[in-house]
Amino acid sequence: MTRKRLMAGNWKMNKTIGEAVVLAQEICNQYEEKWDDACDVVVCPPFVDLKPAKTVFEFDRVPIGVGAQNVHWEESGAFTGEISVPMLKEIGCEWCIIGHSERRGYFGETNEEVNKKAKALIAGQIKPIICVGESLAVRDEGTTLDFVTAQVIAAFAGIDAAQAVKCVVAYEPIWAIGTGRTATPEQAQEVCAAIRATLAELFGQATADEMRVLYGGSMNPGNVDLLIAQPDIDGGLIGGAALKKESFVQLIEACLK
Ligand code: PGA
Repeated sequence: MTRKRLMAGNWKMNKTIGEAVVLAQEICNQYEEKWDDACDVVVCPPFVDLKPAKTVFEFDRVPIGVGAQNVHWEESGAFTGEISVPMLKEIGCEWCIIGHSERRGYFGETNEEVNKKAKALIAGQIKPIICVGESLAVRDEGTTLDFVTAQVIAAFAGIDAAQAVKCVVAYEPIWAIGTGRTATPEQAQEVCAAIRATLAELFGQATADEMRVLYGGSMNPGNVDLLIAQPDIDGGLIGGAALKKESFVQLIEACLK
């Protein structure tokens, strides 16, 4: 089974509109058709940058997708400060990161909320990128696989195989995010394989084989080759290295090899 790779840049809370347009245009200028054969490319900027980035890609007719970094599960209403699926949909946003460890850690996002967000996104035909991953304490305890498996099961509660296949799971060990300390390819593969095995238990092997599982956490041009060579790693969710055209393009080009 060959799954198309996916390279998604998580810009986090970086880039004003002006800066976002510059970076989107720089990535666009490097675009080559062979990218599209090898991988899906997505950038996930802050909400205010989504439409400007989308406009750059549309204007240049390049198939680079845009994704949000969060969403609320209700369609509208008194939820000050929140953004809904229909709002994302209208600006052409095709993807949405949910359950990122920074949202879980700093903003108290729970597994139950991740599940509600996943369902709302699927209903609105936006593809969720569901983040899971353990802390250093959990890894040191030796319970990483149980912890991550439980996050996956909770995220997909009440979701069927036809819906699940639209989702991407990103394994991001918290201790590797923004720290420069990457999981070894073996560590990343072990957890990504366990995630796929869990998806197979939930939805059947054929669906699990179709779904993409990403690695995220200090992925960079120096370590990408060995990570994406792993059988259960289908691409990356990239933070720091997605903020510069050079490194992001190098990561995309690693998928062409
Ligand atoms: P990093 O971030 O690549 O800077 O470690 C990845 C992420 O948090 O998605």
